[in-house]
Amino acid sequence: MESVIVAIDGPSGTGKSSTSKAVAAKLGLSYLDTGAQYRAITWWMINNGIDTDDPAAIATASAKPVIVSGTDPAGPTITVDGVDVAGPIRTQEVTSKVSAVSAVAEVRAVITELQRSIALTARQGIVVEGRDIGTTVLPDADLKIFLTASPEARAARRSGELKGKESADLASTKAALIKRDEADSSRRTSPLAKADDAVEVDTTDLTLDQVVECVVTLVEEKRAAA
Ligand code: DC
Repeated sequence: MESVIVAIDGPSGTGKSSTSKAVAAKLGLSYLDTGAQYRAITWWMINNGIDTDDPAAIATASAKPVIVSGTDPAGPTITVDGVDVAGPIRTQEVTSKVSAVSAVAEVRAVITELQRSIALTARQGIVVEGRDIGTTVLPDADLKIFLTASPEARAARRSGELKGKESADLASTKAALIKRDEADSSRRTSPLAKADDAVEVDTTDLTLDQVVECVVTLVEEKRAAA
């Protein structure tokens, strides 16, 4: 197998980003954070005065922002209309509005097309992380992983990430995370879901190194079998 496409899906706080970046770096693959793209389009909507509670307004504007993702796992980048938004897309304002924006079918169509073009032109292959990569964006991926973890473990990881950036206690982080996962899982257009042929990995009691090792082994097995 010359180039390999790995889809890593799952809810927030399961270690998707850390795992995906480390696997890509170890195997010399590109890396795409699709959540960052949905955050970037949400940031653009907020910045351009679009009412994020108005799906029709979001749909009309969905093709306007130019989103560019840099896919080096050692330093992934994201710009909107040439502006570096890596920091601004992580604010609680964007986090609280991203589920509503990403549920709009027109937004998903624009972002899905962008994701496919990036994945299919990655020379050595790519690790793509998100919610609907194995089910919708890249249903022919060579390997599909679905990461899970208990709500407590996921909230603890997320509030660790937020510490120092914005104040967030564990209980409110857990409540916000559960609410966002419910919204992402119940939306009509390509919800968060495990593909039938995905390998499920429960990361609750695993270290990051153990999860990375597990995924790298699965990729190597696929490559050997190809
Ligand atoms: O992974 P993240 O928390 O940065 O993702 C932000 C949001 O983007 C998430 O709440 C749902 C949405 N998303 C999506 O709908 N589909 C994807 N493939 C990736 C993210």
